[in-house]
Amino acid sequence: MRRKIVAGNWKMNKTNAEAVETLKKLAANIADIKGVSVVIGAPFTTLSDAVKAVEGTNVEIAAQNCNPKDSGAYTGEISPVMLKAIGVNYVILGHSERREYYGETNEFVNEKVKACLAHGLTPILCVGEKLEDREAGNTEAVVEDHTRGGFAGLTKEEAAKVVVAYEPVWAIGTGKTATPEQAQEVHAFIRKLLTSMYDAETAAEITVQYGGSMNAANAAELMAKEDIDGGLVGGASLDADTFAIVVKGAL
Ligand code: 13P
Repeated sequence: MRRKIVAGNWKMNKTNAEAVETLKKLAANIADIKGVSVVIGAPFTTLSDAVKAVEGTNVEIAAQNCNPKDSGAYTGEISPVMLKAIGVNYVILGHSERREYYGETNEFVNEKVKACLAHGLTPILCVGEKLEDREAGNTEAVVEDHTRGGFAGLTKEEAAKVVVAYEPVWAIGTGKTATPEQAQEVHAFIRKLLTSMYDAETAAEITVQYGGSMNAANAAELMAKEDIDGGLVGGASLDADTFAIVVKGAL
């Protein structure tokens, strides 16, 4: 059965020293927690020290992006091989900010998903509609396109290892959270879609997180829903005390 995973996405925040300090505090805050995986997506410059800071604790480390290639002439890029070598376990892929500001396509995201799986890293594949998509009644079509695109060519054994993060773009950083009912509706749709792409057993294995203004006040209610298996949390993950409350919402 799938795991509940609550992941923070720090985006372009925190120096190395700030990251290490927050991670140590977070690890202490959640030391007694069992039954939920806790992950922090930290900036590249902090990853090496981040992994060391959480050694022997309940916290694991994610990167926020990677290149699909192992190595080569790709100036400014970081490969899954490099991430694996320092002890990173997860990689956030296809975040709406990367799709929007850096032109990332489903095809490119799919290459990264495959590369991460090939190197034993867990991809967190972000999917989600913009406000105009929702208003035009296209939520399911967009979510289906992102999901099919990200999973393209994966066997069911590979698919079962992917984490999906449903992040409605209109809810990201806006303080406007999807209601638990709105989120559950899309999560159930994703589960149904994964069932049709693979089978019910595989779909039941896949953790589907909700992301978009999840915070200490709304996390428990969202994650109580049947198909909401955790969160991908931006702003509310930056403070170790706040994020610990969000994590406890998954229990
Ligand atoms: P916020 O929680 O700040 O809305 O960000 C969500 C997000 O984009 C996580 O990846």
